[in-house]
Amino acid sequence: MMEIKIAPSILAADFGRLAEEVRAAERGGASMIHVDVMDGRFVPEITMGPVVVRAVREATRLPLDVHLMIVEPDRHLEAFAHAGASRLAVHVEATPHLYQTVRQIAALGVSPGVALNPATPLEQIAWALPWVEAVIVMTVEPGAGGQAFIPELLPKIRELAERRRARGLAFEIAVDGGIGPDTAAAAVASGATVLVAGTAVFGAPEGPAAAIARLREAATAPSRHP
Ligand code: DX5
Ligand code: ZN
Repeated sequence: MMEIKIAPSILAADFGRLAEEVRAAERGGASMIHVDVMDGRFVPEITMGPVVVRAVREATRLPLDVHLMIVEPDRHLEAFAHAGASRLAVHVEATPHLYQTVRQIAALGVSPGVALNPATPLEQIAWALPWVEAVIVMTVEPGAGGQAFIPELLPKIRELAERRRARGLAFEIAVDGGIGPDTAAAAVASGATVLVAGTAVFGAPEGPAAAIARLREAATAPSRHP
């Protein structure tokens, strides 16, 4: 089994103490930091842009996994790359030219990823799988933290993992939305290799480090359907 990576999403962090929160996650064993970029168009909310990515880049040595929930992502790839993104994931629903977008990300020296809304079938990215290093399977509708995990999406994760195996590919399978100690095991048992978690890490009263440890423990525990 692939090593399970934990990607705390700063969307749920205290932005007044952002650097401190990121460092606490790093000390607590986070594998990367997940940055949720929303533009008020692809999703209703507006969150953060390259300026915040740069601030996080300066606060940690961990890879920065930047999740672009924006329309016309091509226009902004360079700015996010220069701000220090390690990975740029675009939504397949947001770009009519996924191949070109992915090539552009790779040309910037950044790891390309693609994200799918819950209702988007895997078929839509099947041909692109050899070109990406990560697929983000949204397990809530994108746009907000703190929503409940949609268990009906577990078979989609399973099928993606099966396709990866059958085609001998190595991309990471990230699950994003409603991941916490109660849902991590089922996601991992279905084939997830990266757990994105906002509320479960930065909203945890025991602090990010203890929350990450709990998540890691849950991820390796025997599977239980949520
Ligand atoms: C949702 C974002 C998620 C969000 C997850 O649109 O893509 O990364 O931060 O938040 P939780 O873990 O609270 O569901
Ligand atoms: Zn995200």
